Amino acid sequence: MCSLLSHLIIGKTYSEGGENILTKLEGKVAIITGGNSGIGLATAKRFVAEGASVYITGRRKPELDAAVQQIGKNVTGVQGDVSNLADLDRLYATVQQQHDHIDVVFANAGLGDLAPLGEISEASFDKTFDVNVKGLLFTVQKALPFLREGSSIILTASTTTRQWDGAD
Ligand SMILES: NC(=O)c1ccc[n+]([C@@H]2O[C@H](COP(=O)([O-])OP(=O)(O)OC[C@H]3O[C@@H](n4cnc5c(N)ncnc54)[C@H](OP(=O)(O)O)[C@@H]3O)[C@@H](O)[C@H]2O)c1
Repeated sequence: MCSLLSHLIIGKTYSEGGENILTKLEGKVAIITGGNSGIGLATAKRFVAEGASVYITGRRKPELDAAVQQIGKNVTGVQGDVSNLADLDRLYATVQQQHDHIDVVFANAGLGDLAPLGEISEASFDKTFDVNVKGLLFTVQKALPFLREGSSIILTASTTTRQWDGAD
């Protein structure tokens, strides 16, 4: 995980430095896994609005097509499951047809299959680790050859990484 973390670069806030946020990502190439809904789709819309060319993924083809249509321009949908390495290879091969590098990898695809200790099934464990751990790691690892100085890796985490301190 060290090499993965060493590539993690936290982006600037939108108000920082008086930059023109509308063109901040002009000419940049971004991958967003889980980009057909929720946080990923909202990010894809924002990235395109700021000038990026964006590739979004998801397993559900109708939702992916609808997301591409909503975003409207500078977006490509690549259907795939992040826990399937062949699907990830196809994603990066698709990007490579048009670009020789990637500026932003947003490994966002994930799920929460919640159950209390004592009731966790093997199937739930496998699904969670296949997507949230294996999928995330290989999304980033397979992107490494396409990254260059200044590229960013953004990982969606969870509030469950924080321990409740008893205060409301
Ligand atoms: N919203 C929250 O409160 C919250 C809290 C903690 C963490 N998160 C994390 O934030 C990320 C975004 O969640 P969200 O709230 O925006 O929910 P969401 O709308 O359900 O988005 C999840 C996205 O991940 C995709 N996805 C799920 N499994 C996938 C797989 N195996 N391969 C490829 N894509 C997959 C989904 O598309 P398909 O179903 O079409 O594949 C969808 O686009 C997730 O990683 C989630 O675990 C969210």
